[in-house]
Amino acid sequence: MAFGLNRSELFTRCGMSPTVNFPRVLGIECVGVVENSLDPALPEGTVVAAAMGGMGRQFDGSYAEFALLPTTQLMSVRTNLPWTDLAALPESYLTAYGSLEALRLRPGHRFLIRAASSSVGMAALSLAAAMDVEVACTTRTPSKAESLRRHGADHVVLDHGGSIGEGVREVWPDGADRVLDLVGGVTVIDSLRALAPGGSVCNSGILSGTWVIPQFEPLEDIPSGATLTTFSSSAINTGGWAQRVLQDIVERVETGNYRSVIDQVFPLKELAAAHRRMETNQALGKVVAVVHHS
Ligand SMILES: NC(=O)c1ccc[n+]([C@@H]2O[C@H](COP(=O)([O-])OP(=O)(O)OC[C@H]3O[C@@H](n4cnc5c(N)ncnc54)[C@H](OP(=O)(O)O)[C@@H]3O)[C@@H](O)[C@H]2O)c1
Repeated sequence: MAFGLNRSELFTRCGMSPTVNFPRVLGIECVGVVENSLDPALPEGTVVAAAMGGMGRQFDGSYAEFALLPTTQLMSVRTNLPWTDLAALPESYLTAYGSLEALRLRPGHRFLIRAASSSVGMAALSLAAAMDVEVACTTRTPSKAESLRRHGADHVVLDHGGSIGEGVREVWPDGADRVLDLVGGVTVIDSLRALAPGGSVCNSGILSGTWVIPQFEPLEDIPSGATLTTFSSSAINTGGWAQRVLQDIVERVETGNYRSVIDQVFPLKELAAAHRRMETNQALGKVVAVVHHS
C-alpha cells in the first residue's frame, strides 16, 4: 500500500479543517490491495484506490499500515504501474481532470496554471501538454522554472506574491483563455483580470490559506462574458465518474501519454520528513509515502 500526500492534510494537521475532530489518522487517499471485504465485488487481492469521502477527516485515513474504508469508496484499478506511481495519481489527477472539464479546456487554448508546481498543478500540466494546448505556468520559486518547462510548460511566469497580470500579458497580450487558480482566495480577482475576452477561471485550490475572496464584487470583478467556476473532489465518489476517469488516467500513464507527477518517495516511518518537504514548498509534484512494496 502507498499514498500521496496532500496540502489539505497539512491544513488538518494545523487545525485548519473545521469539520475534523481529533485524534484523527490523516490521509485523504491511498492505493493498495483489499485485505478483507464483505463486498463480493471486491474480493481479497483486488487492486484499489480510494480518495476523499471523509477519509482522514470524518474517519481515520491512510497514514497507516491498513485503512478501514467504506467499500462504496473503493475504485478497482487494472494496472502494472509500481505502487508509488499509482499512489501519485488519484487525488492530483482526478482534481486536475475535473477542473479542466469545468473549464471546458480545448486544443488551441492559452492555458495558465497558477501554482503549477503543486501536485494538482503538475497533473494539470501533464493533461494539457497531451492535448495541444499552449500552457503558461506560475511559480514563486525561480529554480523550479526549468523543471516546469521540461514537464511541458511553454512559458513560465514568476509569481512575486501578488499580481501576475503583467507577466501573463507579456506572454499573451490578450490574456489567457483559461486559468486554473490553485492559490485561491486573495488571487481569484487577479486571475480574472488575466483573462482574454470570454475566458474562464477555475478556482480549485486554496494554497493561500484564504477561503474567501476578499471584497468580491461580481459585477465589477468578473469581466463581462467571462466565467468563474470550480471543481471539488468531494464529488469524485459519485456516479462512477472517478473510477472511469482514473482507469483512463492510469492507462495513459502506462503508455507515457500522461506523466507521473512524483516528486519524492518516503517510507512510512519518515512521514514527518515528507510533511516537512511539502510544508516548506520544496516539492515539485506529488510527495508519496510507501507502506508495503508488495
Ligand atoms: N478542489 C479540490 O477538490 C482539491 C483537491 C486536491 C487539492 N486541492 C487544493 O489544491 C491546492 C494544491 O494542492 P496540492 O496538494 O497539489 O499542493 P502542493 O503539492 O502541496 O503544492 C505546493 C506548491 O504550491 C505553491 N504554493 C504554496 N503556497 C503558495 C501560495 N501561498 N501562493 C502561491 N503558491 C503557493 C508552492 O510552489 P512554488 O514554490 O512553485 O510557488 C508549493 O511548492 C491546495 O489548495 C489543495 O487544498 C483541491
